[in-house]
Formats: sequence, structure tokens, C-alpha cells
Amino acid sequence: MADSDAKTSPADALDPHAFRQALGQFPTGVAVVTASHNGYAIGMTANSFSSVSLAPPLVSWSVAKSSPNHDPFVAADAFAVHFLGADHRDLALRFSQRGIDKFAGLAHAPGDTGAPLIEGLAPIFECRAWARYPGGDHTILVGEVARMVERNHEPLLFHSGQLRRIDALRRAPSLSSDSFARNYLAYLLARASFNVSGEFHARLGEWNLSVPEWRVLACLMDVEGLSVGELAAMALIKQPRLTKVLDRMERDDLLQRRPTADDRRRVTLHLTAKGRARAAPVLAAAKAHETEVLNQFTDAERDTIKHALDLLIDRTRPG
Ligand SMILES: Cc1cc2nc3c(=O)[nH]c(=O)nc-3n(C[C@H](O)[C@H](O)[C@H](O)COP(=O)(O)O)c2cc1C
Repeated sequence: MADSDAKTSPADALDPHAFRQALGQFPTGVAVVTASHNGYAIGMTANSFSSVSLAPPLVSWSVAKSSPNHDPFVAADAFAVHFLGADHRDLALRFSQRGIDKFAGLAHAPGDTGAPLIEGLAPIFECRAWARYPGGDHTILVGEVARMVERNHEPLLFHSGQLRRIDALRRAPSLSSDSFARNYLAYLLARASFNVSGEFHARLGEWNLSVPEWRVLACLMDVEGLSVGELAAMALIKQPRLTKVLDRMERDDLLQRRPTADDRRRVTLHLTAKGRARAAPVLAAAKAHETEVLNQFTDAERDTIKHALDLLIDRTRPG
């Protein structure tokens, strides 16, 4: 039976954004495809990889005509497909950026076919170009697998416009549109907040930070010289817990408590140079993560979401 949430669209009325979003409901793995061009390594993140044939062993992927690397990939007589693991998010993002040196600091060497192999990655399929087909705004490249490097691993997934781990796909059960939870504002807000920030919070360990420490750093990067009470309200951390977090961060030389001029018992909070240096890359990663999340929405939807949240915060201010 059709899901009550399902919508149909005739092919000639496909809205590109809706089309992209619908395709996002098919989770895929993520690969970095490399080739050699005039002696230089080229590479890009791709989720269009697919198995094609067992005998001969063929695989395919498609490269966008809009990419400056389109012609070099189409001309190359070999390419190598590296499957990314759950911990390779950064590589997936790096190899999807235009205009940067994607291979900076990455050890790589030509494999059997001449296409560069990135050290430490596996599974790898080294392919010789077998066929090229037009595919709309992409070119479909089919390769015959000449050699492969096997490894069982936890794959990185791409789903709903986001890079995810398999764990993250184990979602709460889908609820019917008339269920209590789907119509209860507090639940919707909590779930939206979890969806938006949960994945990023799980990455904070990369910078050796806990969630409260990250909130404190982010707030103090925004507003210098907050009082403890103001910070508690802004960072959404209750006072006794916040005091412990501040003690630890002061010991680690990330922030300083400075007495105020008029009342020596009151303090204001200031990040040290070390605290600022620690916060900067995390803020940048948080912004990049937010962009990734918001990419699933049209400009109008983004404005609506922001407007509704502003309105709600403004009209429900405590006290
Ligand atoms: C998860 C993911 C999957 C992608 N899959 C493809 C793909 O299959 N084909 C493609 O042409 N671009 C794909 N892209 C976009 C390219 O990686 C990106 O446009 C490209 O690397 C930008 O740099 P370049 O065009 O200078 O190489 C994907 C990006 C991401 C994040």
C-alpha cells in the first residue's frame, strides 16, 4: 500500500531540487576516484560508483561535465576507485572541493594501471578505461577491473545529502502524521536539534572537546567578557555543571576568569590565545557541517525555518 506521505510528480514536471532530494533516499557508499593527467594526480569524491558486470569485471561511475576534471578523467586510460570508510569524512569533503590541492600531504603512488593509489585506503579497484557513454550532464565511465585491494570495513554512506555512518541510519521509527509526537512542538524541536547537531557532536572528540566545552568556546568566541550567569543562559548549561567545566578549561589555559572593576567578587570570562586557537577550526567545521545540512533545503525553505525559529525563541522568552 502507498505511504500516506508519498507524492507523485510527472516526469516533465520534475523540480530539480525535489529530484535531488528523492534520489537522496537511496543511500550509497562514497568513493574517491583518481587518475593521472599529464603526470599529475587528479581525484574527486563520487557516489555514482556502481558494479556493472562480473565477467568481464566491470564497474562504472559518472563524472560531471561541469567539473574542470571532466575532460582529464574522460581522456585517462585508467582510473582507481577508493572506497571510503566511516572515518574518512574529511577525505570525502576534501575531494569534493574545487580549486584546492586535493592531494596535499597525502601519500600516493601510481598503481599497476598508472592511476594514483592513495596510501592507507582500501578497498581499491584499479581499472582500465573500457567504455565512455554520454549521460546528460555527466559522462559515464566504465572500467575493467585490472587489480583490486580487498578489505572489509565500515563504509562511509551518503544519504539525504549527508555523509553518515551506518549507525546514524538506525533511526527512530517513522511516525504517522497524526501521532502525538509528530504534532507535539517540544518533541519536534528536540528531534530537529538532535538531527542537526547530533552528528557534529559525535565528531567533537576529534578536537578533544566535550559538548559543554564546545558550547563555552563557541559562545565566548561570539561574545567576549560574559558573566558566568550570562554564559550559562547562552550555552544552555546549568550553573553547577558550568562551574566544573570552567574550572577544567581554566586549568587547561583555554579561558580566564577576570574580576570586574566595580565588584571584585564578580568575574567575566575571556578566552586565552590558546582557547581561540582551539576554537577556530571547530567553528569552521561546525559552519561546514551546517552548510551540508542546509544544502538539503531551498533558499525559501531555509528562510522559513529560520524565521519560525526566531519567532518561537522571541515569543517564548522565559521570565
Ligand atoms: C558524496 C559526494 C558524492 C559525489 N559524487 C559525484 C559523482 O559521482 N560525480 C561527480 O562528477 N561529482 C560528484 N560529486 C561532486 C564532486 O566531488 C565535486 O564536484 C568535485 O570534486 C569538485 O572538484 P573538481 O570538479 O575541481 O574536481 C560528489 C560530491 C559528494 C560530496
